[in-house]
Amino acid sequence: MNILVTGANGQLGNEIRIVAKNSTDNYIYTDVVEIEGVETTILDITSLDSVRSIIKESSIDCIINCAAYTNVDKAETDTELCELLNAKAAENLAVAMKEVDGLLVHISTDYVFGTEPYNSPCTEEQTGTPTGVYGKTKLQGEQNILASGCKHIIIRTAWLYSEFGKNFVKTMLQLTATKPQLKVVFDQVGTPTYAYDLALAIYEIINERKFEGHDGIYHYSNEGVCSWFDFTKAIAKYSGNLNCDIQACHSNEFPSPVKRPAYSVLDKTKIKETFGVKVPYWTDSLEICLKNLQSIN
Ligand SMILES: NC(=O)c1ccc[n+]([C@@H]2O[C@H](COP(=O)([O-])OP(=O)(O)OC[C@H]3O[C@@H](n4cnc5c(N)ncnc54)[C@H](OP(=O)(O)O)[C@@H]3O)[C@@H](O)[C@H]2O)c1
Repeated sequence: MNILVTGANGQLGNEIRIVAKNSTDNYIYTDVVEIEGVETTILDITSLDSVRSIIKESSIDCIINCAAYTNVDKAETDTELCELLNAKAAENLAVAMKEVDGLLVHISTDYVFGTEPYNSPCTEEQTGTPTGVYGKTKLQGEQNILASGCKHIIIRTAWLYSEFGKNFVKTMLQLTATKPQLKVVFDQVGTPTYAYDLALAIYEIINERKFEGHDGIYHYSNEGVCSWFDFTKAIAKYSGNLNCDIQACHSNEFPSPVKRPAYSVLDKTKIKETFGVKVPYWTDSLEICLKNLQSIN
């Protein structure tokens, strides 16, 4: 198969590059800009013409869409671009794949659930009310894909981190090493997701052709439950940053433009049962990522 990866220089895209290294399929890695040291074909997914032409030129059978507008706070003032990338561009990919009867693997988010006071893991059928521009546009992207009628696997994930780009783990690694004291919210609960694990799940579904006849929405995060406070404590512990006094606090101590989901633990039963995907426990994956980060620095 010829597989096009969009947003290949982001967190998830870079992990796809790693897991798909030895694939017998042909992977083409694209993004809006090139970065040094990695091969990247330039593709702006907001242009339907550009999407159509690369699909035709390279006989693309499958797209893994790792591109998105992911800055949740900035999205509140950058609404147009966020909408263009998360909703319209997702539709472009879907429309173009429908035309060639190809498969679109698209990544969505726990932010589609909004701030409802859930207290049990969210299933794929559950509906929520996203509050911010990011959540609303990601939900619109999902709906546009469903409306296109293309073959699709939509995977909602949450709290993504990796060795690449900016993320919570890298920020907290630095802060717990340099600050004597830190306050972190304990009233937002979810599950971290190591982007490598998600990339591997996507890779296996495609590589072993498990997707046939299984169009739909799926949830994937790591296993377990924690708050951002617990997550930070674990980052400090596994990295040996033991001199920082980490305190639990409420979200209202850190006012932000977007109300974040209070409980966004994702139920992964469907993806495990449908594709036989293995889901590592969140602290096991965190330890691996931290070791990789320490060996890089
Ligand atoms: N990060 C999280 O915590 C999180 C949580 C839940 C779900 N998700 C979802 O998971 C997916 C992957 O997230 P991520 O954290 O890996 O994202 P990321 O690191 O922000 O990567 C996104 C990539 O898309 C590129 N891009 C921007 N505009 C583009 C365009 N017009 N055409 C093509 N590519 C473009 C970005 O380039 P530039 O950097 O140059 O803009 C970047 O390389 C996204 O769908 C996201 O919504 C993320």
